[in-house]
Amino acid sequence: MNDIRHEIERRRTFAIISHPDAGKTTLTEKFLLYGGAIAMAGAVKGKKNARHAMSDWMEIEKQRGISVTSSVMQFNYKDYCINILDTPGHQDFSEDTYRTLMAADSAVMVIDAAKGVENQTRKLFKVCTLRNIPIFTFINKMDREARNPFELLEEIENELGIKTYPVNWPIGSGKEFKGVYDREHRHIISFEANGGSKEVEKIEADLNDENLAELIGNTNYNTLREDVELLDGASEEFNAELVNTGKLSPVFFGSALTNFGVEPFLENFLKMTTPPLPRMTADGVVDPFDEDFSAFVFKIQANMNKAHRDRIAFMRIVSGKFDKDMEVLHVRNNRTMRLSQPQQLMANDREVISEAYAGDIIGVFDPGVFSIGDTLCMPKKKVMFEGIPTFAPEHFARVRPKDTLKRKQFIKGTTQIAQEGAIQIFSEPQTGFEEVIVGVVGVLQFEVLEYRLKNEYNVDIIREDLSYEYIRWITSEKHLAGGLDELQKLVLTSDTKLIQDVKDNYLLIFTSEWNIKWALDKNDGLELAEFNRN
Ligand code: G4P
Repeated sequence: MNDIRHEIERRRTFAIISHPDAGKTTLTEKFLLYGGAIAMAGAVKGKKNARHAMSDWMEIEKQRGISVTSSVMQFNYKDYCINILDTPGHQDFSEDTYRTLMAADSAVMVIDAAKGVENQTRKLFKVCTLRNIPIFTFINKMDREARNPFELLEEIENELGIKTYPVNWPIGSGKEFKGVYDREHRHIISFEANGGSKEVEKIEADLNDENLAELIGNTNYNTLREDVELLDGASEEFNAELVNTGKLSPVFFGSALTNFGVEPFLENFLKMTTPPLPRMTADGVVDPFDEDFSAFVFKIQANMNKAHRDRIAFMRIVSGKFDKDMEVLHVRNNRTMRLSQPQQLMANDREVISEAYAGDIIGVFDPGVFSIGDTLCMPKKKVMFEGIPTFAPEHFARVRPKDTLKRKQFIKGTTQIAQEGAIQIFSEPQTGFEEVIVGVVGVLQFEVLEYRLKNEYNVDIIREDLSYEYIRWITSEKHLAGGLDELQKLVLTSDTKLIQDVKDNYLLIFTSEWNIKWALDKNDGLELAEFNRN
């Protein structure tokens, strides 16, 4: 058991979130470089390819391949075993991206120092806060012209509603970037552009060094002294408890490309963040150090294969140790089974594994039995984890079969693909699912749907994009109790629509946030939820 304990204790499982282009890939690459998992930068993925618009299905397939191989990376750094969960950029942004965050114990938020908080960061951040996981901020690209650091922190605090604690502080930016001031040790690490190799030349100097002004220039020196005074006087105190509950974000400044500040960030982050966290079940929490294996499925990746059988279920191990030959209980089906072809991903390679521990992510062959949110555990100790929420789609389209004779296949196809979690489907009340409203988080999901319906179910579709962008589940008992009749009496703008999901929950879709506010204002006691756990 001691070995298992040690293995679990040294694990750190986190997601990296950012708006595209903030430097997530570059930072990840540098982490891998420090861990010795790759030999040189540029090896992580063909990111240029991954970024281009995906218009034909060949590209989608390639895209999916990329998102499989890059979705989880495991490597060792010193005595830590690190699992990085990738959250893909804009083109392949989908509901999977959100679900991935459900498997992480903390998040690293990369922010472009010239741009500050951007749209996608905002969205991903919101999902992280659902679970109150610790969030660490890396303000990147300090080697370029950047915004004022105080202004950046203020923006993070105001826009994201999290307090910040700068662990280090930048001295200048762009051509004038001289390095960072380490607040704990009260010294300066100076910046030397070095082309991004692993070893960074750093000169350390004390804040009180006589020749500091000479080293960083008089203006920078004066600004730094003022900044430090301000920070020490006014900034939030460091509080580990607040960090652990996601209320305070330690902030680091640096430059991933030139490899400045990356290793100090990694070191501090690993020390400050937690080993695998406990998870909630209906009957209480499961401790990661519990020796009985348990896990939950957070992502299912079906390949573009007509046979439809080539599916991998990704699961996060919550407790204990996994052995490849062990019999586990699939709780929803109440069946014991062996998990076949368990695999783990390391940078670009997949490898079949024989054991894994709490904190790890494994992919197993899915013979078509898994659904998102499923629990696996030891037969002698049945547990069931809380489900994974359904995330609010942001793009909607009305979809129907081109050939009305293909009705049956169409219903079967859309329903199965929705069950896999690749899309969400809705209907207008009392009309059934012969024509569906499809909701997705990322538009690529529409293309995947179209392609799969054609290839796996032999159905061509007509897709009409709708202008709705917001969805809310109706949760007020008062309104739900009266059923459809009552709901049809809601006072709504003419472009708000009432729909139902496959579980017959009622929802509203809106074209603007303003319309949501209108609905809430005009209907006394109306409660709307952005995420749904049912
Ligand atoms: P992403 O995964 O968040 O989308 O960002 P990625 O790392 O791909 O970085 C986006 C662009 O920003 C890349 O340039 C990358 O080289 C650059 N970049 C990342 N970190 C830094 C930094 O610290 N300083 C500077 N100056 N640039 C940085 P690109 O030209 O778009 O791509 P590439 O030609 O380098 O592949």
